[in-house]
Amino acid sequence: MHSSSRTSPIRICCIGAGYVGGPTMAMIAKQCPDIPVAVVDLNQARIDQWNSDELPVYEPGLQEVVAEARGRNLTFSTDVEGAIRSSNIIFISVNTPTKMHGIGAGRAANLEFVEKCARKIAECSQGHKIVVEKSTLPVRTAEAVKRILSSASSGATFDVLSNPEFLAEGTAVSDLLAPDRVLIGGESSQAIEQLASVYERWIPREKILTTNLWSSELSKLTANAFLAQRVSSINAISALCEVTGANVDEVARAIGTDSRIGPKFLKASVGFGGSCFQKDILNLVYLCEHFGLSEVAKYWEQVVVMNDYQKKRFSTRMVRTMFHTVSDKQIAVWGFAFKKDTNDTRESAAIYVCRDLLEEGARLMVYDPRVSEKQIRQDLMNVFKASSGEVSERHRQLIEKNVTVVKDAYTASNLSHAIVVLTEWDEFKKLDMQRVYDQMHRPAFVFDGRNVLDAHTMDKIGFEVHGIGRS
Ligand code: NAD
Ligand code: UGA
Repeated sequence: MHSSSRTSPIRICCIGAGYVGGPTMAMIAKQCPDIPVAVVDLNQARIDQWNSDELPVYEPGLQEVVAEARGRNLTFSTDVEGAIRSSNIIFISVNTPTKMHGIGAGRAANLEFVEKCARKIAECSQGHKIVVEKSTLPVRTAEAVKRILSSASSGATFDVLSNPEFLAEGTAVSDLLAPDRVLIGGESSQAIEQLASVYERWIPREKILTTNLWSSELSKLTANAFLAQRVSSINAISALCEVTGANVDEVARAIGTDSRIGPKFLKASVGFGGSCFQKDILNLVYLCEHFGLSEVAKYWEQVVVMNDYQKKRFSTRMVRTMFHTVSDKQIAVWGFAFKKDTNDTRESAAIYVCRDLLEEGARLMVYDPRVSEKQIRQDLMNVFKASSGEVSERHRQLIEKNVTVVKDAYTASNLSHAIVVLTEWDEFKKLDMQRVYDQMHRPAFVFDGRNVLDAHTMDKIGFEVHGIGRS
C-alpha cells in the first residue's frame, strides 16, 4: 500500500520521445487534459522537433493531437531528472535494439538504455513511483528493473508494471484512439488500477486486460512473432504461386474468408520491415535458446530466414528478368519507407533490394514521399558497413554516383529501364501510367513488390509487369 501515490493527482513522465513515446503520450495528454505529461529524451534535436511544426515522426493525424495538447498539459524537454522528480507514473519508452556485440550478439535485446533509465529513476526519486515498461522487453526484464530500483538510496519505493505498446506505424493515432486492447501486467493491483484509470478515460474497461508481469512481457513478443509469421507464411506461398500459375492475392482472399484464419496480415510483399518484427523474433529466439528450447528457437527463427529469402529472391528475380544484367541500367525506386504512411525506414526491405541492385551496378532514381534524401543515403551507407564499421571506397562511390534521390515518381521513371515498387504509398495507384510508360526504355519492366499497381491496365499499356506471387 502506498497511500501517497493513491491520493496525489497523477503526473506522468515518459523517458524516450521516439515513435512510441511521442505519439502515445500525446494521446494520453489529449484525452486527459488535467494530467501533466512530460516527455523527455537525451536527444536535443529530437526534442526540438517535437516542439516545432515539423514533428520527428510522420503519422497521419498526429500533428493535430500534438497541437491540441502541447503547451497545455504536454511538454517535450531534455530535463530527464526534473521530469522523474515531479511525476508519480514514469513510462520507459526507450529503444531496445538487437545487441550488436558480445554475448547474444545479433539476437538478444540490448537493454543498456532501459537499465540507464532505471538507474536514473532510482537516483532521482523520492516517495513512491509507478514505473511502467512501455518498451518491448525480454520476459523477466521487470525483475532486473525492480532490483535496480530497489538500490535507490533515498528510500523511494516503486511498483513496476509492464504495459507494452501494440500500435503500428502509419496508423498510430487511430490505434491509440481505439486499441484492440491495452495490456497491463503487474503485481500490485493498486498500481494496475492507477494506470488503468488513465486509459479508462477513453478506452472501454473490458478492453483493458490485466495479467502477471511475465505474461505481459511475453505477450508483446508473441504478438509480433505471430504477426510476422503470417507475413512470412503468405510470402512463402507467394514463391510457390510464381512457379505454379496460382495468384497469391487470390489465395489470400480465399483462405482469409475462413473465419478461423481471418483476412488481415495476408498481403504478400517484398518482405516485412520495421524496427520491431525482426528484432523481437530474434529476441524470442534468444530467450528460447537461453532456456534450452532449441526446437522452439529454430521454429521462430525460420520466420526471419523466410523474410531474408523473400527480399533476396525479389532482387534476384529482377536481375534475371532484365536479361541477367542491370549494370548501368537506370531503375526507378518507388518508395523507401518500410510501409506506407510513415517516414520510418528501419529494416525497410527497400534498403536490402537497393543494396543488391547497387552491387549489380544499377543506377537508382529513388523517390519516397516522406523519407528524406539524407535518411536514404544514411541507410545505404549503413547497409554497406563491414563488421569493422567501415564503408569501402567502392561502396561510397556507388552510393554517391549511382543513387539519385528525386522529388516525384515521374522524374524517377524518366529514362528508366525498370520501376520497382517497394512501399505501397497510395499515390502510386493514382499516377498516369501511360505518361510513365512513354518516358521509359523498352521493354518497360515493372517489379511490383507490393502488388499495388493494376497489373491488367499496365499490361494493356505495354509494361512487362512482375508482381509478387504471380507467374
Ligand atoms: P526510438 O528509437 O524511436 O525512440 C527511443 C528514444 O529513446 C530515442 O529518441 C532515444 O534518444 C531515447 N533514449 C534512449 N535512451 C535514453 C535515456 N537513457 N534517457 C532518455 N532518452 C533515451 O524507438 P521507438 O520506435 O519509439 O521504440 C521504443 C520501444 O517501443 C522499443 O522497445 C520498441 O520495440 C517498442 N515499440 C515500438 C513500436 C514502433 O512502432 N516503433 C511499436 C511498439 C513497441
Ligand atoms: C508492428 C505491429 O503490427 C504492431 O502491433 C507492433 O506494436 C509494432 O510492430 C512494434 O512492436 O513495433 P509496424 O511494424 O509498425 O507494427 O507495422 P506493420 O503494419 O505490422 O507492418 C510491418 C511490416 O510488415 C511492414 O513492412 C509491412 O509492409 C509488412 N506487412 C504487413 C506485409 O508485408 N504484409 C502484411 O499483410 C502486413
